[in-house]
Amino acid sequence: MLKVLAVIELVFLIVHPGVHALSRDQFPPDFVFGASTSAYQVEGAANEDGRKPSTWDTFSHSGNANMYAGDGDVTCDQYHKYKEDVQLMSNMGLEAYRFSISWSRLIPDGRGQVNRKGLQYYNNLINELISHGIEAHVTLHHFDLPQALEDEYGGWVSRRVVKDFTEYADVCFREFGDRVRYWTTVNEANIYAVGSYDIGNAPPQRCSPSSTFNCSRGNSSTEPYLVAHHMLLAHASAATVYRKKYQGMQHGLIGFSLLTLGFLPLTNSTEDIMATQRVQDFFNGWFMNPFTFGDYPDIMKKNAGSRLPSFTQKESNLVRGSIDFLGINFYYSFYVSDSPDNLQKENRDFFADLSAKLQMLIPNDTSKYEIPLTPKIFLGTLASLKNSYGNIPIFVQENGQQTPHNSSLDDLPRVDYLHAYIGSMVDALRSGLNVKGYFVWSFMDVFEIDSGYEKSFGLYYVDMDDPDLRRQPKHSAEWYSNFLKGKPMDP
Ligand code: NOJ
Repeated sequence: MLKVLAVIELVFLIVHPGVHALSRDQFPPDFVFGASTSAYQVEGAANEDGRKPSTWDTFSHSGNANMYAGDGDVTCDQYHKYKEDVQLMSNMGLEAYRFSISWSRLIPDGRGQVNRKGLQYYNNLINELISHGIEAHVTLHHFDLPQALEDEYGGWVSRRVVKDFTEYADVCFREFGDRVRYWTTVNEANIYAVGSYDIGNAPPQRCSPSSTFNCSRGNSSTEPYLVAHHMLLAHASAATVYRKKYQGMQHGLIGFSLLTLGFLPLTNSTEDIMATQRVQDFFNGWFMNPFTFGDYPDIMKKNAGSRLPSFTQKESNLVRGSIDFLGINFYYSFYVSDSPDNLQKENRDFFADLSAKLQMLIPNDTSKYEIPLTPKIFLGTLASLKNSYGNIPIFVQENGQQTPHNSSLDDLPRVDYLHAYIGSMVDALRSGLNVKGYFVWSFMDVFEIDSGYEKSFGLYYVDMDDPDLRRQPKHSAEWYSNFLKGKPMDP
């Protein structure tokens, strides 16, 4: 019943939107505003200083021609330009920078030898941020497992990854934890498990028979569930190491990231409302139930049956309570309708197990007319997370608008978008939601997971054909900077 109420609350919030003039001082001083990137998407220097390939290198070099061209070999070259970038962040007034560590730069074979040059690079970046008063928010796995581990035992499909991830995390805590307080172990674990092991549109690109992507057939009826299980165990194991060995000295916090999608019942029929709750249980509860209650949601157990792994009592105890905060990324919203026939399908996979149909509400890149609707859906999503899993601290680690890469620097639709979403943070705080920060994706135009260099989200434009990869502020960068510096912004 509580769950159905959460869905009704979501609908209520959507039909009662609030409009705000916006200013930084509407937020508590400890609410943090930042911008995000990830290692493979910005660093470049893919073959330099001892770095070895990750699964993402392999994916982008595999000629996945039905998606896009390009790779992250050079991209924004932040590896060499980090000082310039941190200077831009500082000029802008950015309070925090969310970036990821490339596991295969730090430990090129996935385990064993630590690469001194990799260590040096992240020390330099972190020190540079600190000397400009910018807090480092660090992600440890952002779609980029060392290829060596994929080759050796199948990467996240194998339980062996838990130990290797824990050792990698331990190196990061030991080496950088004196200066880094916010750790996110795994980025967008839910969509990684589904995209990479069922849809087949992300590394290591394994997919179901119905995938339209150029991918290798995995076992989509079990692999997404296995991968998610190993991510939960790897996270919990790393968090345990942190709490035992480091937290007393370093006082850091360990989080986990999910892509939270907005889900709305297509009609107000009980079936569609129940289907919406089911879909939320599959996408969010998949991870949040174990973190909160130590086990998967009942509906997942019922629909996926023995294809869903189970936790031993010891594992359940380890996973429950292992996040200090939840990182959420928000971009897209879907209508949900009941589709019970899916459960009769012969080849059952994650999508069949949902027994629901998803229909994208409004594509993310069609600008203005999605506002103010989707920020309100976002608010409803936050409220339903609170209802289902308690008021855990949340960082919005990614939110932003995708536009064609070489479009105008005068990106007014992106300004409207950010204004509306940051405005919804004011509503969130007023209604008692425990949101602690907001990060724009992305600080600059990067190599994108779903469109290469064709579409971008950046506050800064990066001319990828310019040998100097010059960064130029878009209007949104100036707008965000004014906001960060406390100038009142009209709606
Ligand atoms: C999700 C991912 O974390 C990031 O890598 C990606 O580029 C953005 N969202 C935009 O799609």
